[in-house]
Amino acid sequence: MSTQAPPQGEKRQVFVSRSAFIFAAVGSAVGLGNIWRFPYVAYESGGGAFILPYLIALLTAGIPLLFLDYAIGHRFRSSAPLAFRSMNRAAEPIGWIQVGIATVIAIYYSAIIAWAASYAWFSLSKAWGDDPEGFLFGSYLQLDDGGLPTADIVPAVLGPLIGVWVITLIILFLGVQGGIARFSKVFIPLLIVLFVGLVIRALTLDGAITGLDALFKPDFSQIAKPSVWIAAYGQIFFSLSVAFGIMLTYASYLKKRTNLTGSGLVVGLSNSAFEILAGLGVFAALGFMATASGTEVSEVAAGGVGLAFVVFPLIISEMPFGEIFGVLFFVSLIFAGLSSLISLVQVPIAAVSDKLGISQRKSTGFVGGGMALVAVVGFSTTSGLITLDTIDYFVNNIGIVGIAIIAVITVAWVLRRLPFLRDHLNAVSTFKLGKVWMAFVGVITPIVLVVMLVQVIITTIKEGYEGYPQITLNLLGWGVLGLILVVSILLSITPWPRKSLEKVERAQAEFEQQLSSPAAAPHATTEPQAAPEATPHNENGVTP
Ligand code: ALA
Repeated sequence: MSTQAPPQGEKRQVFVSRSAFIFAAVGSAVGLGNIWRFPYVAYESGGGAFILPYLIALLTAGIPLLFLDYAIGHRFRSSAPLAFRSMNRAAEPIGWIQVGIATVIAIYYSAIIAWAASYAWFSLSKAWGDDPEGFLFGSYLQLDDGGLPTADIVPAVLGPLIGVWVITLIILFLGVQGGIARFSKVFIPLLIVLFVGLVIRALTLDGAITGLDALFKPDFSQIAKPSVWIAAYGQIFFSLSVAFGIMLTYASYLKKRTNLTGSGLVVGLSNSAFEILAGLGVFAALGFMATASGTEVSEVAAGGVGLAFVVFPLIISEMPFGEIFGVLFFVSLIFAGLSSLISLVQVPIAAVSDKLGISQRKSTGFVGGGMALVAVVGFSTTSGLITLDTIDYFVNNIGIVGIAIIAVITVAWVLRRLPFLRDHLNAVSTFKLGKVWMAFVGVITPIVLVVMLVQVIITTIKEGYEGYPQITLNLLGWGVLGLILVVSILLSITPWPRKSLEKVERAQAEFEQQLSSPAAAPHATTEPQAAPEATPHNENGVTP
Protein backbone atom coordinates (compact mmCIF):
# COMPACT_ATOMS: atom_id res chain seq x y z
CA MET A 1 0.00 0.00 0.00
CA SER A 2 1.49 3.33 -1.02
CA THR A 3 1.22 5.37 2.10
CA GLN A 4 3.59 8.09 3.03
CA ALA A 5 4.80 8.60 6.56
CA PRO A 6 4.50 12.20 7.61
CA PRO A 7 7.10 13.76 9.89
CA GLN A 8 7.64 12.62 13.46
CA GLY A 9 7.02 8.99 12.62
CA GLU A 10 3.26 9.36 12.74
CA LYS A 11 1.74 7.10 10.11
CA ARG A 12 -1.04 8.76 8.24
CA GLN A 13 -2.48 7.56 4.98
CA VAL A 14 -2.40 10.00 2.09
CA PHE A 15 -3.54 10.31 -1.48
CA VAL A 16 -0.15 10.33 -3.19
CA SER A 17 -1.19 12.76 -5.89
CA ARG A 18 -3.81 15.38 -6.51
CA SER A 19 -5.20 13.33 -9.38
CA ALA A 20 -5.67 10.34 -7.04
CA PHE A 21 -7.73 12.55 -4.75
CA ILE A 22 -9.72 14.04 -7.64
CA PHE A 23 -10.63 10.60 -8.98
CA ALA A 24 -11.71 9.47 -5.50
CA ALA A 25 -13.72 12.66 -4.89
CA VAL A 26 -15.38 12.51 -8.33
CA GLY A 27 -16.10 8.83 -7.62
CA SER A 28 -17.80 9.81 -4.41
CA ALA A 29 -19.81 12.61 -5.98
CA VAL A 30 -20.91 10.73 -9.09
CA GLY A 31 -23.38 8.16 -7.87
CA LEU A 32 -26.99 7.12 -7.95
CA GLY A 33 -27.90 10.77 -7.35
CA ASN A 34 -26.54 11.69 -10.77
CA ILE A 35 -27.95 8.83 -12.77
CA TRP A 36 -31.38 8.22 -11.41
CA ARG A 37 -32.19 11.34 -9.43
CA PHE A 38 -30.99 14.33 -11.43
CA PRO A 39 -32.78 13.69 -14.77
CA TYR A 40 -36.19 13.34 -13.14
CA VAL A 41 -35.72 16.23 -10.70
CA ALA A 42 -34.72 18.46 -13.64
CA TYR A 43 -37.65 17.28 -15.75
CA GLU A 44 -40.19 17.83 -12.98
CA SER A 45 -38.75 21.19 -11.99
CA GLY A 46 -38.98 23.23 -15.17
CA GLY A 47 -36.77 21.30 -17.61
CA GLY A 48 -34.42 23.73 -19.36
CA ALA A 49 -35.46 26.46 -16.95
CA PHE A 50 -34.18 24.29 -14.05
CA ILE A 51 -30.64 25.07 -15.22
CA LEU A 52 -30.95 28.47 -13.54
CA PRO A 53 -31.80 27.34 -9.97
CA TYR A 54 -29.44 24.39 -10.40
CA LEU A 55 -26.47 26.59 -11.34
CA ILE A 56 -27.27 29.07 -8.60
CA ALA A 57 -27.49 26.25 -6.05
CA LEU A 58 -24.20 24.84 -7.32
CA LEU A 59 -22.37 28.16 -7.19
CA THR A 60 -23.86 29.59 -3.99
CA ALA A 61 -24.06 26.44 -1.86
CA GLY A 62 -22.63 23.30 -3.48
CA ILE A 63 -19.13 24.47 -4.34
CA PRO A 64 -18.81 26.85 -1.34
CA LEU A 65 -19.73 24.02 1.06
CA LEU A 66 -17.42 21.66 -0.78
CA PHE A 67 -14.61 24.16 -0.07
CA LEU A 68 -15.72 24.33 3.57
CA ASP A 69 -15.59 20.54 3.90
CA TYR A 70 -12.15 20.51 2.28
CA ALA A 71 -10.88 23.28 4.53
CA ILE A 72 -12.02 21.60 7.77
CA GLY A 73 -10.78 18.14 6.78
CA HIS A 74 -7.46 19.36 5.42
CA ARG A 75 -6.66 21.83 8.17
CA PHE A 76 -7.42 19.46 11.05
CA ARG A 77 -6.27 16.33 9.22
CA SER A 78 -8.78 14.13 10.95
CA SER A 79 -12.20 12.55 10.76
CA ALA A 80 -15.35 14.67 11.10
CA PRO A 81 -15.86 14.38 14.91
CA LEU A 82 -12.21 15.09 15.72
CA ALA A 83 -12.07 17.96 13.22
CA PHE A 84 -15.16 19.62 14.73
CA ARG A 85 -13.88 18.93 18.24
CA SER A 86 -10.62 20.57 17.29
CA MET A 87 -12.51 23.76 16.53
CA ASN A 88 -14.41 23.55 19.78
CA ARG A 89 -15.15 20.66 22.13
CA ALA A 90 -18.85 21.38 22.11
CA ALA A 91 -18.92 21.03 18.30
CA GLU A 92 -17.99 17.33 18.35
CA PRO A 93 -21.60 16.04 18.02
CA ILE A 94 -21.83 17.79 14.63
CA GLY A 95 -19.10 15.50 13.36
CA TRP A 96 -20.78 12.42 14.81
CA ILE A 97 -24.14 13.35 13.28
CA GLN A 98 -22.40 13.57 9.90
CA VAL A 99 -20.87 10.17 10.57
CA GLY A 100 -24.30 8.80 11.51
CA ILE A 101 -25.85 10.12 8.31
CA ALA A 102 -23.08 8.69 6.13
CA THR A 103 -23.42 5.35 7.94
CA VAL A 104 -27.16 5.13 7.42
CA ILE A 105 -26.96 6.18 3.77
CA ALA A 106 -24.19 3.63 3.15
CA ILE A 107 -26.32 0.83 4.57
CA TYR A 108 -29.27 1.38 2.25
CA TYR A 109 -27.16 2.54 -0.68
CA SER A 110 -25.48 -0.88 -0.67
CA ALA A 111 -28.87 -2.52 -1.16
CA ILE A 112 -29.51 -0.51 -4.34
CA ILE A 113 -26.12 -1.52 -5.74
CA ALA A 114 -26.98 -5.14 -4.97
CA TRP A 115 -30.27 -4.79 -6.88
CA ALA A 116 -28.38 -3.23 -9.80
CA ALA A 117 -26.01 -6.23 -9.79
CA SER A 118 -28.99 -8.61 -9.97
CA TYR A 119 -30.51 -6.56 -12.78
CA ALA A 120 -27.27 -6.52 -14.80
CA TRP A 121 -27.63 -10.30 -14.81
CA PHE A 122 -31.40 -10.25 -15.40
CA SER A 123 -30.83 -7.97 -18.43
CA LEU A 124 -29.19 -10.82 -20.32
CA SER A 125 -32.41 -12.86 -20.27
CA LYS A 126 -34.85 -9.97 -19.72
CA ALA A 127 -35.94 -11.96 -16.70
CA TRP A 128 -38.72 -9.52 -15.86
CA GLY A 129 -40.77 -10.69 -18.87
CA ASP A 130 -43.51 -8.23 -19.79
CA ASP A 131 -44.26 -7.08 -16.25
CA PRO A 132 -41.13 -5.43 -14.74
CA GLU A 133 -43.14 -3.88 -11.92
CA GLY A 134 -44.71 -7.17 -10.84
CA PHE A 135 -41.31 -8.84 -11.20
CA LEU A 136 -39.52 -6.24 -9.04
CA PHE A 137 -41.98 -6.15 -6.19
CA GLY A 138 -43.14 -9.75 -6.43
CA SER A 139 -40.62 -12.26 -7.77
CA TYR A 140 -37.46 -10.31 -6.93
CA LEU A 141 -38.01 -8.28 -3.73
CA GLN A 142 -41.00 -10.38 -2.55
CA LEU A 143 -42.25 -7.17 -0.99
CA ASP A 144 -44.30 -7.34 2.16
CA ASP A 145 -46.36 -4.17 2.16
CA GLY A 146 -47.18 -4.22 5.87
CA GLY A 147 -44.82 -1.27 6.36
CA LEU A 148 -42.89 -2.83 9.26
CA PRO A 149 -39.54 -4.61 9.19
CA THR A 150 -39.80 -8.38 8.71
CA ALA A 151 -37.29 -11.17 9.18
CA ASP A 152 -38.13 -13.10 5.99
CA ILE A 153 -34.91 -13.33 4.01
CA VAL A 154 -34.94 -12.93 0.21
CA PRO A 155 -32.04 -15.09 -1.08
CA ALA A 156 -31.92 -13.34 -4.47
CA VAL A 157 -30.99 -10.08 -2.71
CA LEU A 158 -28.86 -11.65 0.01
CA GLY A 159 -26.17 -13.01 -2.38
CA PRO A 160 -25.46 -9.78 -4.30
CA LEU A 161 -25.63 -7.74 -1.10
CA ILE A 162 -22.96 -9.87 0.51
CA GLY A 163 -20.92 -9.49 -2.71
CA VAL A 164 -21.21 -5.67 -2.59
CA TRP A 165 -19.94 -5.57 0.98
CA VAL A 166 -17.09 -8.01 0.35
CA ILE A 167 -15.83 -5.82 -2.54
CA THR A 168 -16.29 -2.60 -0.56
CA LEU A 169 -14.45 -3.90 2.48
CA ILE A 170 -11.59 -5.31 0.40
CA ILE A 171 -11.09 -1.89 -1.24
CA LEU A 172 -11.20 -0.16 2.14
CA PHE A 173 -8.81 -2.69 3.71
CA LEU A 174 -6.32 -1.81 0.99
CA GLY A 175 -6.28 1.76 2.31
CA VAL A 176 -6.74 5.26 1.03
CA GLN A 177 -4.18 5.15 -1.77
CA GLY A 178 -3.88 1.40 -2.36
CA GLY A 179 -7.63 0.83 -2.25
CA ILE A 180 -9.81 3.90 -2.71
CA ALA A 181 -7.56 5.84 -5.09
CA ARG A 182 -6.51 2.80 -7.10
CA PHE A 183 -10.11 1.62 -7.49
CA SER A 184 -11.32 5.09 -8.46
CA LYS A 185 -8.53 5.63 -11.00
CA VAL A 186 -9.60 2.49 -12.84
CA PHE A 187 -13.34 2.47 -12.38
CA ILE A 188 -14.17 6.15 -12.88
CA PRO A 189 -12.66 6.27 -16.41
CA LEU A 190 -14.35 2.92 -17.10
CA LEU A 191 -17.66 4.30 -15.85
CA ILE A 192 -17.28 7.31 -18.13
CA VAL A 193 -16.55 5.10 -21.16
CA LEU A 194 -19.50 2.79 -20.41
CA PHE A 195 -21.85 5.65 -19.73
CA VAL A 196 -20.85 7.60 -22.84
CA GLY A 197 -21.48 4.38 -24.81
CA LEU A 198 -24.92 4.14 -23.24
CA VAL A 199 -25.74 7.78 -23.96
CA ILE A 200 -24.64 7.47 -27.60
CA ARG A 201 -26.83 4.39 -28.00
CA ALA A 202 -29.76 6.17 -26.36
CA LEU A 203 -29.34 9.23 -28.58
CA THR A 204 -29.51 7.11 -31.73
CA LEU A 205 -32.85 5.52 -30.79
CA ASP A 206 -36.09 6.53 -32.52
CA GLY A 207 -37.85 9.13 -30.43
CA ALA A 208 -34.70 10.26 -28.58
CA ILE A 209 -35.37 13.84 -29.64
CA THR A 210 -38.85 13.70 -28.13
CA GLY A 211 -37.32 12.76 -24.81
CA LEU A 212 -34.69 15.51 -24.96
CA ASP A 213 -37.34 17.98 -25.93
CA ALA A 214 -39.38 16.99 -22.85
CA LEU A 215 -36.32 17.33 -20.62
CA PHE A 216 -34.96 20.60 -21.92
CA LYS A 217 -38.11 22.48 -22.93
CA PRO A 218 -37.98 25.37 -20.48
CA ASP A 219 -40.99 26.04 -18.32
CA PHE A 220 -40.09 29.37 -16.76
CA SER A 221 -43.27 29.46 -14.69
CA GLN A 222 -41.71 26.70 -12.55
CA ILE A 223 -38.78 28.74 -11.32
CA ALA A 224 -41.10 31.06 -9.42
CA LYS A 225 -41.97 28.11 -7.17
CA PRO A 226 -39.99 27.69 -3.93
CA SER A 227 -40.27 23.90 -4.30
CA VAL A 228 -38.15 24.04 -7.46
CA TRP A 229 -35.38 25.92 -5.66
CA ILE A 230 -35.59 23.45 -2.80
CA ALA A 231 -35.25 20.62 -5.31
CA ALA A 232 -32.16 22.29 -6.81
CA TYR A 233 -30.40 22.73 -3.47
CA GLY A 234 -31.39 19.23 -2.32
CA GLN A 235 -30.04 17.70 -5.50
CA ILE A 236 -26.73 19.55 -5.26
CA PHE A 237 -26.11 18.51 -1.64
CA PHE A 238 -26.69 14.81 -2.10
CA SER A 239 -25.00 14.72 -5.46
CA LEU A 240 -21.83 16.57 -4.43
CA SER A 241 -21.54 14.50 -1.22
CA VAL A 242 -21.26 17.68 0.87
CA ALA A 243 -22.24 18.20 4.50
CA PHE A 244 -22.16 14.59 5.61
CA GLY A 245 -18.51 14.09 6.31
CA ILE A 246 -17.33 12.53 3.05
CA MET A 247 -15.39 15.34 1.46
CA LEU A 248 -14.10 16.39 4.87
CA THR A 249 -12.72 12.88 5.44
CA TYR A 250 -11.20 12.59 1.96
CA ALA A 251 -9.55 16.02 2.27
CA SER A 252 -7.93 14.90 5.53
CA TYR A 253 -5.83 12.46 3.49
CA LEU A 254 -4.44 15.15 1.22
CA LYS A 255 -0.84 16.22 1.45
CA LYS A 256 -0.33 19.42 3.38
CA ARG A 257 0.30 21.50 0.32
CA THR A 258 -2.53 20.72 -2.10
CA ASN A 259 -4.51 23.05 -4.29
CA LEU A 260 -7.85 22.60 -2.52
CA THR A 261 -10.09 25.06 -4.30
CA GLY A 262 -8.74 24.13 -7.75
CA SER A 263 -9.51 20.48 -7.00
CA GLY A 264 -12.95 21.42 -5.69
CA LEU A 265 -13.80 23.20 -8.92
CA VAL A 266 -12.75 20.17 -10.95
CA VAL A 267 -14.84 17.85 -8.76
CA GLY A 268 -17.91 20.13 -8.72
CA LEU A 269 -17.91 20.72 -12.45
CA SER A 270 -17.21 17.07 -13.31
CA ASN A 271 -20.13 16.01 -11.14
CA SER A 272 -22.47 18.43 -12.90
CA ALA A 273 -21.17 17.39 -16.33
CA PHE A 274 -21.99 13.80 -15.45
CA GLU A 275 -25.46 14.83 -14.37
CA ILE A 276 -26.14 16.51 -17.70
CA LEU A 277 -24.83 13.43 -19.49
CA ALA A 278 -27.18 11.25 -17.42
CA GLY A 279 -30.05 13.57 -18.28
CA LEU A 280 -29.31 13.13 -22.00
CA GLY A 281 -29.08 9.34 -21.76
CA VAL A 282 -32.10 8.79 -19.54
CA PHE A 283 -34.44 11.12 -21.42
CA ALA A 284 -33.35 9.93 -24.86
CA ALA A 285 -34.27 6.41 -23.67
CA LEU A 286 -37.57 7.64 -22.21
CA GLY A 287 -38.33 9.39 -25.53
CA PHE A 288 -37.75 6.10 -27.31
CA MET A 289 -40.05 4.31 -24.88
CA ALA A 290 -42.82 6.89 -25.26
CA THR A 291 -42.58 6.82 -29.05
CA ALA A 292 -42.54 3.01 -29.19
CA SER A 293 -45.60 2.71 -26.98
CA GLY A 294 -47.44 5.65 -28.54
CA THR A 295 -47.63 7.61 -25.28
CA GLU A 296 -46.25 10.86 -23.92
CA VAL A 297 -42.88 11.14 -22.20
CA SER A 298 -44.78 12.29 -19.10
CA GLU A 299 -46.42 8.84 -18.98
CA VAL A 300 -43.13 6.98 -18.80
CA ALA A 301 -40.88 9.47 -16.96
CA ALA A 302 -39.81 8.39 -13.48
CA GLY A 303 -36.93 8.69 -11.05
CA GLY A 304 -35.25 6.48 -8.45
CA VAL A 305 -36.27 2.86 -8.03
CA GLY A 306 -39.13 3.23 -10.53
CA LEU A 307 -36.79 4.53 -13.24
CA ALA A 308 -34.00 2.03 -12.79
CA PHE A 309 -35.92 -1.12 -11.98
CA VAL A 310 -39.25 -0.67 -13.76
CA VAL A 311 -38.94 1.80 -16.66
CA PHE A 312 -35.45 0.81 -17.79
CA PRO A 313 -36.34 -2.89 -17.92
CA LEU A 314 -39.29 -1.94 -20.17
CA ILE A 315 -36.95 0.05 -22.41
CA ILE A 316 -34.44 -2.81 -22.48
CA SER A 317 -37.17 -5.25 -23.51
CA GLU A 318 -38.38 -2.90 -26.21
CA MET A 319 -35.16 -2.01 -27.98
CA PRO A 320 -33.03 -4.05 -30.37
CA PHE A 321 -30.02 -5.54 -28.54
CA GLY A 322 -31.56 -4.30 -25.31
CA GLU A 323 -29.45 -6.83 -23.38
CA ILE A 324 -26.29 -4.84 -24.12
CA PHE A 325 -27.99 -1.58 -23.20
CA GLY A 326 -29.22 -3.15 -19.97
CA VAL A 327 -25.78 -4.39 -18.99
CA LEU A 328 -24.28 -0.95 -19.77
CA PHE A 329 -26.91 0.78 -17.65
CA PHE A 330 -26.78 -1.50 -14.62
CA VAL A 331 -23.00 -1.88 -14.66
CA SER A 332 -22.76 1.94 -14.76
CA LEU A 333 -25.03 2.07 -11.72
CA ILE A 334 -22.81 -0.48 -9.96
CA PHE A 335 -19.57 1.42 -10.66
CA ALA A 336 -21.03 4.82 -9.81
CA GLY A 337 -22.64 3.35 -6.70
CA LEU A 338 -19.58 1.47 -5.45
CA SER A 339 -17.27 4.48 -5.71
CA SER A 340 -19.79 6.50 -3.67
CA LEU A 341 -20.35 3.64 -1.22
CA ILE A 342 -16.65 3.33 -0.37
CA SER A 343 -16.55 7.06 0.40
CA LEU A 344 -19.60 6.75 2.63
CA VAL A 345 -18.18 3.80 4.58
CA GLN A 346 -14.81 5.52 4.98
CA VAL A 347 -16.48 8.29 7.04
CA PRO A 348 -17.34 6.10 10.08
CA ILE A 349 -14.16 4.04 9.62
CA ALA A 350 -12.00 7.17 9.95
CA ALA A 351 -14.05 8.46 12.89
CA VAL A 352 -13.84 5.23 14.89
CA SER A 353 -10.14 4.87 14.08
CA ASP A 354 -9.54 8.33 15.57
CA LYS A 355 -11.87 7.86 18.52
CA LEU A 356 -10.46 4.53 19.63
CA GLY A 357 -6.92 5.23 18.50
CA ILE A 358 -6.93 2.06 16.37
CA SER A 359 -5.59 1.53 12.85
CA GLN A 360 -7.80 2.14 9.83
CA ARG A 361 -7.60 -1.56 9.03
CA LYS A 362 -8.89 -2.60 12.42
CA SER A 363 -11.58 0.01 12.16
CA THR A 364 -12.51 -1.27 8.70
CA GLY A 365 -13.01 -4.76 10.10
CA PHE A 366 -14.91 -3.55 13.10
CA VAL A 367 -17.04 -0.75 11.61
CA GLY A 368 -17.29 -1.96 8.02
CA GLY A 369 -18.05 -5.49 9.19
CA GLY A 370 -20.78 -4.18 11.50
CA MET A 371 -22.34 -2.08 8.76
CA ALA A 372 -22.26 -5.02 6.36
CA LEU A 373 -24.08 -7.12 8.91
CA VAL A 374 -26.78 -4.50 9.49
CA ALA A 375 -27.22 -4.01 5.73
CA VAL A 376 -27.46 -7.71 5.03
CA VAL A 377 -29.88 -8.35 7.87
CA GLY A 378 -31.93 -5.21 7.21
CA PHE A 379 -32.15 -5.17 3.44
CA SER A 380 -32.35 -8.74 2.31
CA THR A 381 -35.78 -9.13 3.83
CA THR A 382 -39.23 -8.75 2.33
CA SER A 383 -39.63 -5.29 3.94
CA GLY A 384 -36.42 -3.96 2.33
CA LEU A 385 -37.94 -1.50 -0.12
CA ILE A 386 -40.19 0.34 2.34
CA THR A 387 -37.41 0.50 4.91
CA LEU A 388 -35.06 1.91 2.29
CA ASP A 389 -37.50 4.43 0.91
CA THR A 390 -38.48 5.78 4.33
CA ILE A 391 -34.93 6.09 5.65
CA ASP A 392 -33.78 7.67 2.37
CA TYR A 393 -36.50 10.32 2.53
CA PHE A 394 -35.90 11.32 6.15
CA VAL A 395 -32.12 11.20 6.11
CA ASN A 396 -31.77 13.15 2.86
CA ASN A 397 -34.47 15.73 3.26
CA ILE A 398 -34.25 16.34 6.99
CA GLY A 399 -30.97 14.82 8.20
CA ILE A 400 -28.49 16.23 5.68
CA VAL A 401 -30.20 19.61 5.41
CA GLY A 402 -30.50 19.89 9.20
CA ILE A 403 -26.89 19.07 9.92
CA ALA A 404 -25.70 21.35 7.10
CA ILE A 405 -27.54 24.23 8.79
CA ILE A 406 -26.11 23.42 12.23
CA ALA A 407 -22.59 23.03 10.82
CA VAL A 408 -22.51 26.29 8.86
CA ILE A 409 -24.12 28.33 11.62
CA THR A 410 -21.73 26.87 14.21
CA VAL A 411 -18.62 27.38 12.09
CA ALA A 412 -19.60 30.79 10.71
CA TRP A 413 -21.44 32.47 13.59
CA VAL A 414 -20.74 30.65 16.85
CA LEU A 415 -17.08 29.76 16.41
CA ARG A 416 -16.41 32.47 13.81
CA ARG A 417 -13.94 30.27 11.99
CA LEU A 418 -14.70 31.23 8.39
CA PRO A 419 -11.83 33.77 8.10
CA PHE A 420 -9.43 31.20 9.51
CA LEU A 421 -10.63 28.49 7.12
CA ARG A 422 -10.63 30.87 4.18
CA ASP A 423 -7.04 31.81 4.96
CA HIS A 424 -6.15 28.15 5.08
CA LEU A 425 -7.75 27.51 1.69
CA ASN A 426 -6.05 30.56 0.19
CA ALA A 427 -2.68 29.65 1.62
CA VAL A 428 -2.57 26.35 -0.24
CA SER A 429 -4.77 26.98 -3.29
CA THR A 430 -4.52 28.90 -6.55
CA PHE A 431 -8.18 29.95 -6.79
CA LYS A 432 -8.50 32.50 -3.94
CA LEU A 433 -11.60 33.00 -1.89
CA GLY A 434 -12.78 36.23 -0.36
CA LYS A 435 -15.82 37.72 1.31
CA VAL A 436 -18.16 36.34 -1.33
CA TRP A 437 -17.36 32.79 -0.24
CA MET A 438 -17.98 33.70 3.39
CA ALA A 439 -21.30 35.31 2.47
CA PHE A 440 -22.40 32.22 0.53
CA VAL A 441 -21.44 29.86 3.36
CA GLY A 442 -22.42 32.02 6.30
CA VAL A 443 -25.54 33.80 5.02
CA ILE A 444 -27.10 32.52 1.79
CA THR A 445 -26.73 28.80 2.48
CA PRO A 446 -28.22 28.83 6.00
CA ILE A 447 -31.14 31.02 4.91
CA VAL A 448 -32.04 28.81 1.96
CA LEU A 449 -31.60 25.64 3.98
CA VAL A 450 -33.73 26.81 6.90
CA VAL A 451 -36.57 27.67 4.49
CA MET A 452 -36.15 24.24 2.89
CA LEU A 453 -36.12 22.37 6.16
CA VAL A 454 -39.14 24.12 7.63
CA GLN A 455 -41.19 23.35 4.51
CA VAL A 456 -40.14 19.72 4.45
CA ILE A 457 -40.87 19.19 8.14
CA ILE A 458 -44.30 20.81 7.91
CA THR A 459 -45.22 18.75 4.85
CA THR A 460 -43.99 15.53 6.42
CA ILE A 461 -45.88 16.11 9.66
CA LYS A 462 -49.06 17.10 7.84
CA GLU A 463 -49.07 14.66 4.96
CA GLY A 464 -46.79 11.82 6.04
CA TYR A 465 -44.81 10.14 3.29
CA GLU A 466 -45.99 7.88 0.47
CA GLY A 467 -49.01 6.85 2.53
CA TYR A 468 -46.82 4.63 4.74
CA PRO A 469 -48.27 3.86 8.20
CA GLN A 470 -47.37 6.43 10.86
CA ILE A 471 -45.57 3.76 12.86
CA THR A 472 -43.22 3.15 9.91
CA LEU A 473 -42.45 6.87 9.71
CA ASN A 474 -41.97 7.11 13.49
CA LEU A 475 -39.71 4.08 13.63
CA LEU A 476 -37.67 4.29 10.44
CA GLY A 477 -37.87 8.04 9.81
CA TRP A 478 -38.00 10.13 12.96
CA GLY A 479 -36.68 7.16 14.98
CA VAL A 480 -33.53 6.78 12.86
CA LEU A 481 -32.85 10.54 13.02
CA GLY A 482 -33.38 10.52 16.79
CA LEU A 483 -31.08 7.53 17.17
CA ILE A 484 -28.33 9.30 15.21
CA LEU A 485 -28.69 12.32 17.49
CA VAL A 486 -28.60 10.35 20.75
CA VAL A 487 -25.66 8.18 19.69
CA SER A 488 -23.77 11.30 18.54
CA ILE A 489 -24.19 12.97 21.91
CA LEU A 490 -23.17 9.81 23.78
CA LEU A 491 -20.07 9.38 21.63
CA SER A 492 -19.15 13.02 22.19
CA ILE A 493 -18.99 12.60 25.93
CA THR A 494 -16.62 9.65 25.78
CA PRO A 495 -12.92 10.58 26.00
CA TRP A 496 -10.41 10.70 23.14
CA PRO A 497 -7.12 8.84 23.22
CA ARG A 498 -4.24 11.22 23.77
CA LYS A 499 -2.54 10.15 20.54
CA SER A 500 -5.48 11.28 18.38
CA LEU A 501 -5.50 14.71 20.01
CA GLU A 502 -1.75 15.03 19.72
CA LYS A 503 -1.93 14.13 16.06
CA VAL A 504 -4.14 17.15 15.39
CA GLU A 505 -1.98 19.43 17.49
CA ARG A 506 1.16 18.33 15.66
CA ALA A 507 -0.51 18.87 12.30
CA GLN A 508 -1.53 22.38 13.35
CA ALA A 509 1.94 23.25 14.48
CA GLU A 510 3.38 21.98 11.19
CA PHE A 511 0.83 23.90 9.17
CA GLU A 512 1.53 27.10 11.01
CA GLN A 513 5.23 26.69 10.57
CA GLN A 514 4.91 25.92 6.87
CA LEU A 515 2.30 28.47 6.01
CA SER A 516 3.82 31.32 7.96
CA SER A 517 7.01 31.15 5.93
CA PRO A 518 6.49 33.20 2.73
CA ALA A 519 9.12 31.15 0.88
CA ALA A 520 7.39 27.91 1.74
CA ALA A 521 3.92 29.27 1.12
CA PRO A 522 3.87 30.87 -2.31
CA HIS A 523 0.10 31.26 -2.23
CA ALA A 524 -0.12 32.65 1.29
CA THR A 525 -2.56 35.53 1.58
CA THR A 526 -1.81 38.83 3.18
CA GLU A 527 -5.06 38.59 5.14
CA PRO A 528 -4.57 38.55 8.91
CA GLN A 529 -4.74 35.09 10.48
CA ALA A 530 -7.49 34.25 12.93
CA ALA A 531 -7.17 35.66 16.42
CA PRO A 532 -4.84 33.58 18.63
CA GLU A 533 -7.66 32.44 20.89
CA ALA A 534 -9.37 31.02 17.82
CA THR A 535 -6.43 28.86 16.78
CA PRO A 536 -7.40 25.23 16.99
CA HIS A 537 -4.43 23.76 18.79
CA ASN A 538 -5.00 26.02 21.76
CA GLU A 539 -8.29 24.30 22.37
CA ASN A 540 -7.09 20.78 21.96
CA GLY A 541 -6.91 19.73 25.57
CA VAL A 542 -7.46 16.07 26.29
CA THR A 543 -10.99 15.33 27.40
CA PRO A 544 -10.83 14.34 31.06
N1 ALA B 1 -22.98 11.76 -4.13
C1 ALA B 1 -23.48 10.45 -4.15
C2 ALA B 1 -24.59 10.29 -5.13
O1 ALA B 1 -24.84 11.16 -5.91
C3 ALA B 1 -23.88 10.02 -2.77
O2 ALA B 1 -25.21 9.30 -5.18
